[in-house]
Amino acid sequence: MARWEKRKTHAERVILRIDHYEIIRLLGHGGMNHVYLAEDLHNQQKVVLKFPNDDLIGNVGVFERYKREAEIGSRLNHPNVQRLLNTGEERSEHYLVMEYLQGRTLREVLEKCAPDLLPTDEALRITIQICDALAYCHEHGVFHRDIKPENIMILNDGNIKIIDFGVALLEGARRVTWRGLSGTVGTPDYMSPEQLRGERGLSRVKMCLPS
Ligand SMILES: Nc1ncnc2c1ncn2[C@@H]1O[C@H](COP(=O)(O)OP(=O)(O)O)[C@@H](O)[C@H]1O
Ligand SMILES: [Mg+2]
Repeated sequence: MARWEKRKTHAERVILRIDHYEIIRLLGHGGMNHVYLAEDLHNQQKVVLKFPNDDLIGNVGVFERYKREAEIGSRLNHPNVQRLLNTGEERSEHYLVMEYLQGRTLREVLEKCAPDLLPTDEALRITIQICDALAYCHEHGVFHRDIKPENIMILNDGNIKIIDFGVALLEGARRVTWRGLSGTVGTPDYMSPEQLRGERGLSRVKMCLPS
């Protein structure tokens, strides 16, 4: 991509850099973002960089979303919530830096099991950690609003982390401008009834569990 500095090593390997991060590989992408594994050249730590897709660069709503996600990330500190890094630093453009989580998404884990279900004790263990993390977020005025298997990581040590606060709501903060984006946030299959009705998705305890 043109916005990144491109270099070639002696072995003709192309290196992509932005600020003090060197891109290693693409980890995943959704409708709005590309997520890359990178190395922080200040401390040689692996980190994850999240960029808006090219067609969204310059969109005011996306800019505000990134700012909000960064603000939320700097408020939260919980073992089951993904940590945002270096939130105060100057960057040449808008992107987020996050801790690198080694593991798989809950979606990948479920697909690997299919057509079987996860064993009950494993499902309960995961669910309890998710609830713990959500209770913590709610106590800190943060409402994720897009909990689904793609946004839950199961780490190699078995612990879970909630990721992707891209459409989260911060209690008391002004409403993000969604110009050029859908006014409804979330993923229909996993939305709470009030989100589906187009409300802000602020209720604390509503949870829809499949029977
Ligand atoms: N910190 C991380 N460590 C490892 N993989 C990640 C991390 N964050 C995101 N990913 C991968 O990238 C995908 C997209 O990230 P996400 O933050 O959910 O963005 P999107 O808004 O595009 O859904 C995730 O489903 C996961 O596979
Ligand atoms: Mg996601």
